[in-house]
Amino acid sequence: LTLTVDANHPGPALSPLQHGVFFEEINHAGDGGLYAEKIQNRAFTNGIVAWTPWTENGAVVHLNLLPTSNPQSAAHYLEVRVERGAANGDAWGGVANTGYWGIGTHKGETFRGQIVVKLSSKLVGPLVVALRAADGTVLAEHRFTKLAASGNDQTLEYLFRSPKEDAHAFLTITTQAPATFDLRFVSLFPTDTFDHQTNGLRADLAQMVADLKPSFVRFPGGCFVEGDILAHRFRWRGSIGPLMDRTPTDDLWGYQCDNGLGYLEYLEWCEEMHAEPIFVINCGMSHKQNVPLDQLQPYIQSALDAIEYANGPVTSKWGAQRAKDGHPAPFHLQYIEVGNEDGFDDYDARFAMFYDAIKARYPYIKLIADTRVNSRPADLVDDHYYASTLFFVRQAAALDNYPRNATPVYIGEFAVTRGAGHGNLNAALGEAYFMTAIERNSDVIKMASYAPLFANVNNMVWNPDAILFDSLHAYGTPSYWAQWMFSRNRGDVVLPTTVEEPPSSNKVLDRGGIGVATWATSAEFTDLKVTQGDKVLWTLNSPGAFPLTPQTGQWTIADGTARQTDLGTNLRAVGGDPSWTDYTFS
Ligand code: AHR
Repeated sequence: LTLTVDANHPGPALSPLQHGVFFEEINHAGDGGLYAEKIQNRAFTNGIVAWTPWTENGAVVHLNLLPTSNPQSAAHYLEVRVERGAANGDAWGGVANTGYWGIGTHKGETFRGQIVVKLSSKLVGPLVVALRAADGTVLAEHRFTKLAASGNDQTLEYLFRSPKEDAHAFLTITTQAPATFDLRFVSLFPTDTFDHQTNGLRADLAQMVADLKPSFVRFPGGCFVEGDILAHRFRWRGSIGPLMDRTPTDDLWGYQCDNGLGYLEYLEWCEEMHAEPIFVINCGMSHKQNVPLDQLQPYIQSALDAIEYANGPVTSKWGAQRAKDGHPAPFHLQYIEVGNEDGFDDYDARFAMFYDAIKARYPYIKLIADTRVNSRPADLVDDHYYASTLFFVRQAAALDNYPRNATPVYIGEFAVTRGAGHGNLNAALGEAYFMTAIERNSDVIKMASYAPLFANVNNMVWNPDAILFDSLHAYGTPSYWAQWMFSRNRGDVVLPTTVEEPPSSNKVLDRGGIGVATWATSAEFTDLKVTQGDKVLWTLNSPGAFPLTPQTGQWTIADGTARQTDLGTNLRAVGGDPSWTDYTFS
């Protein structure tokens, strides 16, 4: 290849916000992932499966969920009635929590634990909190004696140090004599979180994101924002304040999330990475229901309050709440996306209602529409692409044709999903090729983010993803490393380039005959040219942009006309699918 770069005629400047990340609560990306909490269902809120993953641990133990004094709250007490200790030498009876597919402990890792418990009658002997290896042996324990039988909540705190690595440790809370105690909240955090916060992020995962040096973080979804029904949408107000009282979200991706990683924590995470927060709000639309326009006001108010919480002075209602939550300084939130992939029905009218209310009060807020709207001048429009490598190669050329005077574009989600398995080099190459087009079209495309960012390998409801992890380890797929390369190596300006290709190395036919191409696995091809000398005999494209099943077998190049043609000599087939090298002519 000969690459010519014209440094004398610089094109558009590269957008400083170009490469960022999109975080969604999917695949246990947050709960059981980035959010460092080890205990699943810590406030007994799980409306999907009430006790998950709490189990009886010991001989004769009964568990019962009791409501708290706040009937509106999803939280419960877990009443643990131990009638008799286990008959083994350990003699414990109580409850166990296996975390998220096991509690991961590194050798020497330290943990900070908290339990809120209520005792109605005095305990005989201690309440024993233990971190146990997968085989049940004790890694660390703390014995609480002299607990008051007050009938009130008591908060117990302790530190653990694990002497060894275990991917499937679990926590037990037991007594050694018959007893009844009510658990309100059980939490266990590594002391070394990414941000050194007690309510922090898992260090290795957060570091992998920080290493991308993202310009922005779009959060918290995705479909997670919408919910399957409106009751299951993400509600930021329930995601702030004391952890014990947060309202969980029944995530449409199949699990409940505690929202311990809530609105405040998302904003703080962005702040720590010096990344612009992009908050996606629900616009009254879910997968199965929409709120009519005349009932949209509470949703608009929620968006206004969210902006006030992030940016308002401490004298404002929500600014004061932010200060109370520990962050008096404003966050300077500048981007709000109105809905996610909701660009149908009356979206345009909804967008107008959000636009008018938000711009009237916060003119500096940039509003992202999730489809092209006519009602109001959106600041950006969010395009999503999930397809094959070949699609991305084609689409790269299409980006050059984006209208120059239309709404600037944010490509909020993109990934090669076809033929990508759990992430592979072919997918990463397709994405990288596409990103070169994103960069050279910087005058129109201002931002882009790969999706999804994370997957817990025990709950991969969406493939592929950028970062895969289990309770102890994590790695980046080739797509992660493609993002890494682009995001960490940013240009200043687009320089015009031309590429000269040497003669094709594709197979040369040297005999005549009817052309029949055979190929092995290619699912798609485009602009496959059969040439003779300078003459293009045929330009061939596979049918449709997205064949759902791979095409294999034989394909007759020639249609009726071609069949009658003696192809002569010196035929060449050039182009086609770059990944398709296994084709021959006869
Ligand atoms: O990234 C996974 C999902 O893909 C997102 O939730 C949604 O926006 C898109 O359809």
